Amino acid sequence: MSSKKSTSADPAEATYKPDKKFAKKARISSLSEYQELYQESIRKPQKFWAKEAKELQWRKPWSKTLKWDPPFAEWFTGGELNVCENCVDRHAEGPRKNKAAIIWEGEPGDKRVITYAQLKREVSKFANVLEKNGIEAGDRVLIYMPMVPEAAIAMLACARIGAVHNVVFGGFAADAILDRLEDSGAVAVITADGGWRRGKVIPLKPTVDDALQRFSKVRRVIVLNRCGNDISMQEGRDVWWADEMENVSAQHTAKGFDSEHPLFILYTSGSTGKPKGILHTSGGYLTGTYATCKYIFDMRDDDVYWCTADVGWITGHSYIVYGPLANGVTQVMYEGAPNFPDFGRFWQMIEEYGVTIFYTAPTAIRAFIKAGDAFPAKYDLSSLRLLGSVGEPINPEAWLWYHEHIGGGKCPIVDTWWQTETGAIMISPLPGATPCKPGTATLPFFGIDAAVLDDAGNECKPNEDGRLVIRQPWPSMTRTLYKDKARFKKVYWSDYPGFYTAGDGARRDKKGNFWIIGRLDDVLNVSGHRLGTAEIESALVAHHAVAEAAVVGRPDDLKGQAVAAFVTLKTGYEESPELVVELRNHVAHVIGAIAKPDDVYCTAALPKTRSGKIMRRLLKELVSTGKISGNITTLEDSEVITSLQKKITGGS
Ligand code: PRX
Repeated sequence: MSSKKSTSADPAEATYKPDKKFAKKARISSLSEYQELYQESIRKPQKFWAKEAKELQWRKPWSKTLKWDPPFAEWFTGGELNVCENCVDRHAEGPRKNKAAIIWEGEPGDKRVITYAQLKREVSKFANVLEKNGIEAGDRVLIYMPMVPEAAIAMLACARIGAVHNVVFGGFAADAILDRLEDSGAVAVITADGGWRRGKVIPLKPTVDDALQRFSKVRRVIVLNRCGNDISMQEGRDVWWADEMENVSAQHTAKGFDSEHPLFILYTSGSTGKPKGILHTSGGYLTGTYATCKYIFDMRDDDVYWCTADVGWITGHSYIVYGPLANGVTQVMYEGAPNFPDFGRFWQMIEEYGVTIFYTAPTAIRAFIKAGDAFPAKYDLSSLRLLGSVGEPINPEAWLWYHEHIGGGKCPIVDTWWQTETGAIMISPLPGATPCKPGTATLPFFGIDAAVLDDAGNECKPNEDGRLVIRQPWPSMTRTLYKDKARFKKVYWSDYPGFYTAGDGARRDKKGNFWIIGRLDDVLNVSGHRLGTAEIESALVAHHAVAEAAVVGRPDDLKGQAVAAFVTLKTGYEESPELVVELRNHVAHVIGAIAKPDDVYCTAALPKTRSGKIMRRLLKELVSTGKISGNITTLEDSEVITSLQKKITGGS
């Protein structure tokens, strides 16, 4: 049965109403019900959030729901809870005891099922390991792991003892690890020898070793044997995961921690060269991830949920580890690449495990479209009842393909807008209530007072572009940038005092749906990953041949945005294809392969204003359209643009 009600001949323009059967069983089953509850939640946000928070297990009740000293929030003040206990113990002791918490598949095909009772034992053991190794509440622990259950176990064990984890995506390079070790002041690292990706072992421990050569404060490195690749272990510092787990008890008594106890730091790109340490705390973060999973993914006890993100990103934190486990759901976790051994891997796993809720990114969907319809057509995907999308605006072509070829025309698609900073989903359809349109994340979640404002701070008229803001605090919001309150205030709270500025451009249509246009700052969205142009520029200028660099995004069919770099060379260096390859590899070496520029243009000079500012806007226009439409009279030397244009368009 189709969920489509077309108001237009063009399917991309049509409105897709929730399937009636779905709506009947959903927690929120009509738009009017949503609207009524939403209005009430905006009038009394604390009441809404307190009701959700009460569904969690608290060791000590809170005395005040919100303490708001803009831009600093405290939620559930005075309350105490243990986040890990909420995600694990709570289920391990009840009827979900023998329910699968994680169904894991390694890329080579190895499989494991971990029940909630087993998860409790593993997490308790690892919490004992951490304590035995002298790690205490408040200590920062860097986690650099492949997508194996031990990554989640390590995070949960940190949460259990009150240690603050900082997960670093396994694709990042040694310098990126070093930055994070230094900024967070980590005392321990949890890693693996390597992980499987496209049939090959990606070594991880050697990258950690490289970073640790330049950082001496780490006392302990705990290494999981995943791939058996050759690595070195430093006597007195490095220990094996399995050895440590052998001699500890499977009992661990969890303590309650203050609701505002830091849970984790996750670094994300901003508009300066230095990544920002987004700090999330306990009670509010768990409330936000728990409630959004419940309403937006409609999680139920018989669901098999699968989010294809990596735990190295916020999506992995909120929608693989904390939100789903707080809901006691069964989830699938996969180690490797979507196209290994071929583009049928995801669909084969959906068939095999009977996945009911599937959450992925538009960039993956576009790669699947390119690979061809034959891959999903080979598998039975009828278990699916709900699809999700995250990371960037989902283009109508991808939305329609996802709806038809994966969702069989019957599954609602929740296009979820949020950020590392917001902790949990902010704008999304509710699957049983909200009519969807390809390309819009639709309406704000309960308690989220989102708006689009113009420069003067007034709400934009329908279909007028402006800045996306959130006007009231919410529990899962980042509390600050780690050790940098001033930057936190400046980046997010100074455009419109008292309001959170997301950094995204957006517009609302007449029905109030939010259409996200994209970043307004110097942040790129490459395959759903946030990359700062300044970070890539500073990696480029660290190369001995480069004098100056400017990086911009250009539209790319698969990745959303591709990275285009412009460099001027130091005297004595000549442009050559070899140098271009070297520069691309250099960026991959410094930051990680995800940041590797797609194009590198060597130029005699960069376009600058008379006051010496690089005009990235022009470079962006040039790589996007091949020409410059606007006024370039403010340029110091307009010849620069003419010669770059020739270079980009091949001399035309
Ligand atoms: O530009 C928005 C885009 O991703 C940014 C947040 O990136 P990050 O903190 O890495 O978190 C990604 C996963 C939540 C946003 O500022 N973005 C994310 N989801 C969407 C989106 N843009 C449009 N539609 C979305 N659904």
